[in-house]
Amino acid sequence: MLTAPPFFCRAMQLTNVTAVLAIDALSFPTPMKESLLHYELTQNQLAYYQVLIEKLDAEDASSPAERIIGFAGYWLMGDEVHISTIAVQPERRGRHLGELLLLNLLLLAYEHPACLATLEVRRSNAAAQQLYTKYWFKVVGERRAYYKDTGEDAVLMTVEPLNGRYHHFLTAQKNTLLARLQTEA
Ligand SMILES: CC(C)(COP(=O)(O)OP(=O)(O)OC[C@H]1O[C@@H](n2cnc3c(N)ncnc32)[C@H](O)[C@@H]1OP(=O)(O)O)[C@@H](O)C(=O)NCCC(=O)NCCS
Repeated sequence: MLTAPPFFCRAMQLTNVTAVLAIDALSFPTPMKESLLHYELTQNQLAYYQVLIEKLDAEDASSPAERIIGFAGYWLMGDEVHISTIAVQPERRGRHLGELLLLNLLLLAYEHPACLATLEVRRSNAAAQQLYTKYWFKVVGERRAYYKDTGEDAVLMTVEPLNGRYHHFLTAQKNTLLARLQTEA
């Protein structure tokens, strides 16, 4: 799990649900239901969720030592991972933290090992599509009116194979990203 002090990723826990749902509500037109996230964390054997944490300089023992500033997840189905969600707290966007979350997921996916990563993204979501393209995802199709809340189309993107060459790419990206985050910190 990726660490770039003061940021690090780790598996989502039930105690994180409130913070995660708050970011989710600020990130998507239709917020995730608490019961669904609860199911994902406790029942769904295919689900893997991660949170992005910022460690804080606690002023005293009563101050929180860390806060959740993003989250992401996928379902592992055979040798395929389907990225189901990714979001960063709005005021922390544009600082390569979404990239840290995606890179963390892809490194985890490689370890299963998975061969293919897929996702759906709203046609209007240029920022997310750019992020996925940066990680070699390609558009492979579309689903018309896939999003029931807005009627928007989904663009299907995949990256494969998650082989040694791709892992080499991820490692290079990781080194660049960690250096960049350290400089910007
Ligand atoms: C998508 C999201 C997770 C990206 O996180 P972020 O922290 O803002 O993005 P990063 O700073 O890590 O950007 C990484 C790359 O993404 C792309 N990107 C990010 N924001 C972008 C923007 N506004 N316009 C174009 N490209 C953008 C760029 O390729 C960028 O790399 P670069 O700066 O080297 O060019 C974030 O915008 C978000 O939470 N959005 C709301 C939820 C959402 O739409 N999730 C996707 C569901 S499919």
